[in-house]
Amino acid sequence: MSKGIILSGMRPTGRLHIGHLSVLENWAKMQDEYKCYFMVADLHSLTTKFDDTVNLHEDTRQMVLDWLGAGIDPVKSAVFVQSSVKEHAELHLYLSMNIPISWLERCPTYKDQVAQFGKQGKDITTYGFLGYPVLMASDILLYLSDTVPVGEDQLPHLEMTREIARRFNFLYKTDLFPEPKALLGRFPLVPGVDGRKMSKSYGNDIAISSTSEEVKKRTNAMITDPGRVRREDVGNPEVCIVHKYQEIYNNQMLESVQKACRSASRGCVDCKKEVYQVMEDMLEPIRKRKAEYQNSTYNNLKEYLQKLNNLEEPSKNRQDGSLDESLVTEKFDIFWRNSGRKDKEVLKKLGQSVIDDYKAGLITLNDVQSLLDAKFDYVNLIMIKGKERAGKVASETIKNARAAMNLRF
Ligand code: TRP
Ligand code: SF4
Repeated sequence: MSKGIILSGMRPTGRLHIGHLSVLENWAKMQDEYKCYFMVADLHSLTTKFDDTVNLHEDTRQMVLDWLGAGIDPVKSAVFVQSSVKEHAELHLYLSMNIPISWLERCPTYKDQVAQFGKQGKDITTYGFLGYPVLMASDILLYLSDTVPVGEDQLPHLEMTREIARRFNFLYKTDLFPEPKALLGRFPLVPGVDGRKMSKSYGNDIAISSTSEEVKKRTNAMITDPGRVRREDVGNPEVCIVHKYQEIYNNQMLESVQKACRSASRGCVDCKKEVYQVMEDMLEPIRKRKAEYQNSTYNNLKEYLQKLNNLEEPSKNRQDGSLDESLVTEKFDIFWRNSGRKDKEVLKKLGQSVIDDYKAGLITLNDVQSLLDAKFDYVNLIMIKGKERAGKVASETIKNARAAMNLRF
């Protein structure tokens, strides 16, 4: 039976917060059942932040680390950066030819965002931002994805993706593109600790990368029932943000907590302690997994490449007999010179291990190149391999789309 296909993405906003875990949980869960593509939507970031790209690279890295921490497995799933697979831009252009501007102007997120940014004195009524849903449709359709795990705020875009797919199929008499459906997360929208929408820019978020100290600070700052001034006052859980968190994350003991609050037999400190603990239980395993990717060694990287190779061709002997050792040495030399690193001895050893592993048939020549391109950094390597995996599928779809459109040269 052929697997279903998932594509989903997030804009690289740097540090994700616990509100994102609902979507990430779905991503992680689907990896066995579906062929998964998880994408850093850096082009989508440019639609509004075209004038501010200094942090784009670092934000991408941090977000991917959060994903890995949340259980995204870069062996099972292709993790890649949108702009690195040029076919996204290409399909976006093809689709843009037949999409009426009125569809895009009618999109609720368009008006809403233009107004939001307008309030901050920024005009985002650009050609690119108007096309936001077209770009998103391109992302999804390139992989012929049938299921898209997202947050509720993305539903209008998915609806539009279906319309765009239908229109393409109708115009060019093809059934190339499936109409994808959304998959929503388990948790409802999590409010920020002050009750407003959770957002890094409001400083009311609990970041996935928070230390225990930071989690404590934020849970202590959570708003309780404003009417409950003294410990002896009875409280009303319905207007309490701490309680909202209990409802979302710790819902077994709700009734007793509510009763105790209404009769003033429990203090807000008790609730906050519990919420703190729930957050910690959720974040601790994420921190651990993340650290494995941050503190990785050459052996980790090698193991990763080997797993990927086995996925493609389990029985293949990697030593194809065409070893050109001087080529590898030369590549390594260039790398060493460009890296600006002083620890030549360490690098020399590393270079020898790479050559030995290649000779022993443990990694391929392409792997050697990838390791050098990635500067032996795990996140870089994951993105390079993700780009390869995504690119293969994307170029196949583009070929078919071009054929359907009679673009033959
Ligand atoms: N628009 C999405 C967001 O803001 C990110 C995104 C871009 C996306 N392309 C996608 C999500 C394709 C799902 C599928 O979070
Ligand atoms: Fe909220 Fe708990 Fe305080 Fe009641 S006791 S107001 S539920 S924090």
